Amino acid sequence: MADLRTNFADIKSPNPFWLASGPPTNTYGQVAKAFDQGWGGAVWKTIGEPIINVFSRYGSVDLGATRMMGFNNIELISDRPVAENLKEIAEVKRNYPTQIVEWVKEVATIPVIVKLTPNVTDITYIARAAVKGGADALSLINTINSIVGVDLSTFEPQPSVAGKSSHGGYCGPAVKPIALHLVSAVAADPSVKIPISGIGGIASWRDAAEFIALGAGSLQVCTAVMHYGFRIVEDLIDGLSTWMDERGHRTLADVRGRALPRVTTWEELDLNYHLLAHIDQDKCIKCELCWTACEDGAHQAIRRLPRDNGGPVVEIIEEACVGCNLCAAVCPVQECITMRQVPNEYPPVSWKEYAAGKGKLAPRSEHFHTATWAPSPK
Ligand SMILES: Cc1cc2nc3c(=O)[nH]c(=O)nc-3n(C[C@H](O)[C@H](O)[C@H](O)COP(=O)(O)O)c2cc1C
Ligand code: SF4
Ligand code: SF4
Repeated sequence: MADLRTNFADIKSPNPFWLASGPPTNTYGQVAKAFDQGWGGAVWKTIGEPIINVFSRYGSVDLGATRMMGFNNIELISDRPVAENLKEIAEVKRNYPTQIVEWVKEVATIPVIVKLTPNVTDITYIARAAVKGGADALSLINTINSIVGVDLSTFEPQPSVAGKSSHGGYCGPAVKPIALHLVSAVAADPSVKIPISGIGGIASWRDAAEFIALGAGSLQVCTAVMHYGFRIVEDLIDGLSTWMDERGHRTLADVRGRALPRVTTWEELDLNYHLLAHIDQDKCIKCELCWTACEDGAHQAIRRLPRDNGGPVVEIIEEACVGCNLCAAVCPVQECITMRQVPNEYPPVSWKEYAAGKGKLAPRSEHFHTATWAPSPK
C-alpha cells in the first residue's frame, strides 16, 4: 500500500487528511472520534473572546438533486469558552500523541501555518508577505465572500437572522476550482518555498490527488465532514492509496506538484493545437442537447438530421466546429462526445511568439468567419 505518511512543516501525520478549522473541530469528543476513524490531523475551531455568534448561521446552495453543492456560513468563532477549549486541546495532545499535535522534537518553536483568505485581488502577494513574516507553512483557501440567496417572499437574504443577513463565507464542492487555482498560483510562486496545505471543496480522493498534484503537502476538509461525517476519511485514504499503487507512486512526494509545470498563462498555449468534436453514434441517446447548446450557445456546428429513418439525429459540421468543448460538456452520456485532435504539420506557436512575428498559424476554417444564421430543418 502506498505510503501516505506526511511531514508538513515538521508536523508529522499518518496521512495528509486533516480536519479544517470549523464545526467538526469544536470539541475533544469530535477530534478524538475523528482520529479514531483515521484522520491524520485536525486544526482546532477558531477560539476567542467574546463568544458571540448569531442564530441561523449556515446557508446552502443545492444543484438539482445534489444537496450542499455550495455552503455558506456567518459563524465567527467557537461557541465555547477559551479555557474549556485549551483544556480539551491539551487532552487531545495527551491521548493522541502521534497525530498532528506532535511536531518534530528538534524544533524549538511551534510551526506557524498562516491561513490565506481568497478575498483579495492577488493571493500570491499575501503569500509572499506571510513568507516574509516568518510563516512555516501556508494553508488555503479560507471561505469566499458570498450571499447564497434571497427569499423572494420576504426579500430576506439567506441565512436570515431576524430578517436580515450579511455576506458569509462560501465553501464546499462549488469552491474547489477556485481553491485549486489559488493553491497552484501560490505553489508556483518562486518566492514561496514553504509547504502549502490545500483546502476548499475536498470531498473525494480525486479532489485530494488534484490538490497534491498542484502542490499541496497536506489537505484539509470541513464541509464534506459536516455533510457526510468523519467516516469519509476511510474512502479518502483507500482511494488515494489505491490510485497511487495503480500508478506506481510510492509516496506523496512522487505526486506533489506534478501538475504544476503544466499550468501556464494563456499567451504560452499552443495555437496550432486543433480539436474537433466527435460523436459516438452508438452511444447517442438522441436527446439533441448538444445541438441546442451548439446552435444557440456556440458555433452552429451541429446539424440536426431527420428522425424518421432511425439513423443518427445529430452530426458535427466539421468545417464549423471550433473545438470549444461545449457539446461534450452538455452531453448526458459519458464519452459519447469526445474531442479529437486534428493533426497538422505546423509546429507549435504561442500567442506570445505569434504576436512577436515568430512562427506560423495553421489555417483555420473560413467558415469560422463567414457563418451566418441559417435555421436547421425542423
Ligand atoms: C461552518 C464553518 C465554520 C468555519 N469556521 C472556521 C474557523 O473558525 N476558522 C477557520 O480558520 N476557518 C473556518 N472555516 C473555514 C474552513 O476551515 C475551510 O477553510 C473552508 O470551509 C473551505 O473548506 P471546505 O470546502 O472543505 O469546507 C469554517 C467553515 C465552515 C463551513
Ligand atoms: S465543440 Fe463547440 S463548436 Fe464544435 S460542435 Fe461542439 S459545441 Fe459546436
Ligand atoms: S447530447 Fe449526446 S446523447 Fe444527446 S444527441 Fe447529442 S450526442 Fe446524442
